[in-house]
Amino acid sequence: MADQIRFLHRGQVQHLGDFPPTRTLLDHLREDRGLCGTKEGCNEGDCGACTVVLGGLEEGRLRYRAVNACILFLSALDGKELVTVEDLAGPDGALHPVQQAMVDCHGSQCGFCTPGIVMSLFALQAEGGAVERQRVDTALAGNLCRCTGYRPIIEAACRMGADPAPVGKGAATEELLRSIQRRETGQIKDGKVLLPASADDLAALLLRHPEARLVAGGTDVGLWVTKQFRDLGLLIHVGGIADLQRMDAADGRLTIGSAVTVARAAERLGGLYPEMAELFRRYGSAQVRNSATLGGNIANGSPIGDSMPVLIALGSRLVLRRGDDRREMPLEDFFLAYRRTALTAGEFIEAIRVPLPRPDRLFACYKISKRFDQDISAVMAGFCLDMAGGKVVAARLAFGGMAGTPQRARAAEAALTGRPFDAETARDAAAALAQDFQPLSDMRASAAYRLAVAGNLIVKFQLAQTMPLGAVRVTNFAPGGEV
Ligand SMILES: Cc1cc2nc3c(=O)[nH]c(=O)nc-3n(C[C@H](O)[C@H](O)[C@H](O)COP(=O)(O)OP(=O)(O)OC[C@H]3O[C@@H](n4cnc5c(N)ncnc54)[C@H](O)[C@@H]3O)c2cc1C
Ligand code: FES
Ligand code: FES
Repeated sequence: MADQIRFLHRGQVQHLGDFPPTRTLLDHLREDRGLCGTKEGCNEGDCGACTVVLGGLEEGRLRYRAVNACILFLSALDGKELVTVEDLAGPDGALHPVQQAMVDCHGSQCGFCTPGIVMSLFALQAEGGAVERQRVDTALAGNLCRCTGYRPIIEAACRMGADPAPVGKGAATEELLRSIQRRETGQIKDGKVLLPASADDLAALLLRHPEARLVAGGTDVGLWVTKQFRDLGLLIHVGGIADLQRMDAADGRLTIGSAVTVARAAERLGGLYPEMAELFRRYGSAQVRNSATLGGNIANGSPIGDSMPVLIALGSRLVLRRGDDRREMPLEDFFLAYRRTALTAGEFIEAIRVPLPRPDRLFACYKISKRFDQDISAVMAGFCLDMAGGKVVAARLAFGGMAGTPQRARAAEAALTGRPFDAETARDAAAALAQDFQPLSDMRASAAYRLAVAGNLIVKFQLAQTMPLGAVRVTNFAPGGEV
């Protein structure tokens, strides 16, 4: 059994062992199973036409999460429940409440996006809780509809009802899921995909195969296959390792396992630092956040990854592991040069340690991108100031999009330290950024814009201390006026 993946579909445990290492779930559904309700639009995680829902045990509780099947390798199904659009209607053909609401509200025209939208709304409903407008917008940010327009779709979401009508059978599903969790290391396709059961197994496997490519959520790696048609060689699937999915708060810091998804990390970090909640809401889409891991975001080493600046500003540290040896380092030291990290052969990221909030600390993070939802940052900023006696005693300002790696702004930090955090100090720090960065111009932003906006964010951070956001009035120019 260890050499197969096991997952639940329609209440039955399915076994799969003989599939190409980078076979995507979308191709499996459409080509191997004839389940063509799930559509292919962009094949790169952007449009949501391929949305399916995975049920999984998270801290002992069954949660349903929407994911993009087009960039999800089949191995990621191991230990999960799969729900596709074909599974929603009852045996008598009665529509699921989500489907019925879409019909009643005329939420579909050509219908191409509709299965994906239905699955995103199904996942939202399965989460429980009141179906409020902002939750609906967030749930649908990764679903592109090119013809209906979102008003009727949002109306359907608000009308589908808050009572979840999930497909699975609650406690029975949880029991079955428990029975299929991986307890021993497995291999698929004559060892071309390795599925370690624990972090210890992963450490041993990587020592034997330092050339192997790790796959966590596959939201970066998946595109190397679907867009670049790359042969990835030996794969080690780390997304399902239970040890790497833990989050523990102790000794003034939250330790987040590297395979914790961005969605789960966002729930926990957003509870500690409410400023981060909006940042993570704008990280990809719900489908991307439900697959992507924090470890994958960091290991990818992109200068425009969203989590790094904010985690660097907070003073987070990484735990790297090679065999039984572990080393810890400040996150900013991990990035050596453009897409080059401190990882050595056979080493992997085991955990990220994030300091817990402190009352004497001012903190903010900002994402600048052309669209609010589902866009890559032009500039990303994380700011953290330790205050004592009305003065800044330590400053940590970190930016993405300003250099070849996520980086701290040392000159700007020096301009803040030892001074009260007032408008003049903020302006001086903003001016000092020119010593820290010579950003590039590219299709997302010009160098001059990047430098200007980064400085303005420091000024905004200072203004926010004097003007709580709740007191700011925003004028809505749409009919209806001020909000
Ligand atoms: C549509 C779309 C939207 C996106 N939007 C955003 C966004 O808004 N902001 C943003 O920052 N990113 C975004 N991304 C990029 C991507 O989602 C993130 O970089 C993601 O966090 C990667 O995590 P993953 O688990 O999917 O990594 P994977 O794709 O599985 O792996 C990425 C890299 O990390 C390595 N790796 C994974 N885990 C480990 C580990 N434990 N130790 C060492 N190496 C490891 C892999 O070998 C690979 O090189 C988006 C991607 C898509 C497709
Ligand atoms: S096909 Fe567009 S997100 Fe998968
Ligand atoms: S109904 Fe045509 S794309 Fe949405």
